[in-house]
Amino acid sequence: MATSVATLPGLLSLANARASVKNSFLGCDVKVIAGISFVRPLLLTKKRAHPAQLQSILSERKSHRVKCQAVTTATPIPPLVQLTVAEPKPVLKFVKAFAPATVANLGPGYDFLGCAVEGMGDYVTAEVDENVEPGKVAIASITGDGSRLSLVPEKNCAGIAGQATMTLLGVQNVGVTLNLHKGLPLGSGLGSSAASAAAAAVAVNALFGSPLTKAQLVQAGLESEATVSGYHADNVAPSLMGGFVLIRSYDPLHLIPLEFPDGKQLYFVLVIPEFEAPTKEMRAVLSPEISMKAHVENCSQAAALVSAILRGDAKLLGSALGSDTIVEPKRGPLIPGMLSVKLISERHGAFGCTISGAGPTTVAITDSEEEGHRIGARMVEEFQADGKLKAAAHVQKLDREGARVVESRKL
Ligand code: HSE
Repeated sequence: MATSVATLPGLLSLANARASVKNSFLGCDVKVIAGISFVRPLLLTKKRAHPAQLQSILSERKSHRVKCQAVTTATPIPPLVQLTVAEPKPVLKFVKAFAPATVANLGPGYDFLGCAVEGMGDYVTAEVDENVEPGKVAIASITGDGSRLSLVPEKNCAGIAGQATMTLLGVQNVGVTLNLHKGLPLGSGLGSSAASAAAAAVAVNALFGSPLTKAQLVQAGLESEATVSGYHADNVAPSLMGGFVLIRSYDPLHLIPLEFPDGKQLYFVLVIPEFEAPTKEMRAVLSPEISMKAHVENCSQAAALVSAILRGDAKLLGSALGSDTIVEPKRGPLIPGMLSVKLISERHGAFGCTISGAGPTTVAITDSEEEGHRIGARMVEEFQADGKLKAAAHVQKLDREGARVVESRKL
């Protein structure tokens, strides 16, 4: 992950610097270091802020007591810019889109590898609406979320991604209403927020004749992910594009779809326990630094994973996926029963097992649907026995298509 440094030569008070960071917005990790010539540099706090926002916040608050420097330790979010040549006109009155669940990380691929799985997902409808402010999206309804999600577009994944898609399209003269149906449980490790974002991006884009590619729509999804849980595309890219996707770099965004050969067998045994693992919190438990040994181990397993995908080798894929020595050891113990469920799955024939995304869903790999059901049943039993958690098993194939329009009406 790239590191960028924004130095603020302005003179600031400690109190102002603290307030600035407190008031800052989401974007990238920020450390504010303040000091004066006779005081050692002091780390005040760590927050998330866009460097440009922080720069302007800090430069507005000058005083003559303390020198301040902002150091960003994560990739800054590139601003959204219109990608179309001219503002597109709506070509459809109504669109309904579906976006599939995803398995992110795939073990050693933290934040850079993910894939879409069949069966489960979220639905978003988008409709041209003259009662909505031109250039904006509104959310009329949300179902399937147990009344937990906000209808305010800026606080909702579908709303943020829908609005970002309007910006990428350059839409200024038409307003759009969205309706969201959650097919995925929240905080489950199946890319629930990304699926809402992907479905919204595809639905809004389709209203205007789909001028943007799915890879371009990933920018809109990233805007949403950064706001709700952290700047990562390993859910939203595969949910949009389908199949396996490697995120080679974030700045510039470089996505590499990895083709798992047709005709080769691959099944994901997804065991979802009744437990919530909010992505933001599961990211916060990870150490920002790793040893050289862990780096070598995880890079070799991630490389093996990519080779296994391209060769259609489910056995190697499972074994590499189950070999993460950086993220899983930190998160596994926080999901009751997970580590023992992993052992049981492998003892009953799974090629490998790990946490799906940030958890708690636990994913095992096999090459037979029947085996998948047998392994899944053992994993469910073990979640109950060791973790005291009820769980449900689903055996799914790869979703090769990604987010798609499932219904539309002409203007
Ligand atoms: N790469 C992300 C994480 C995926 O593990 O935090 C979240 O689903």
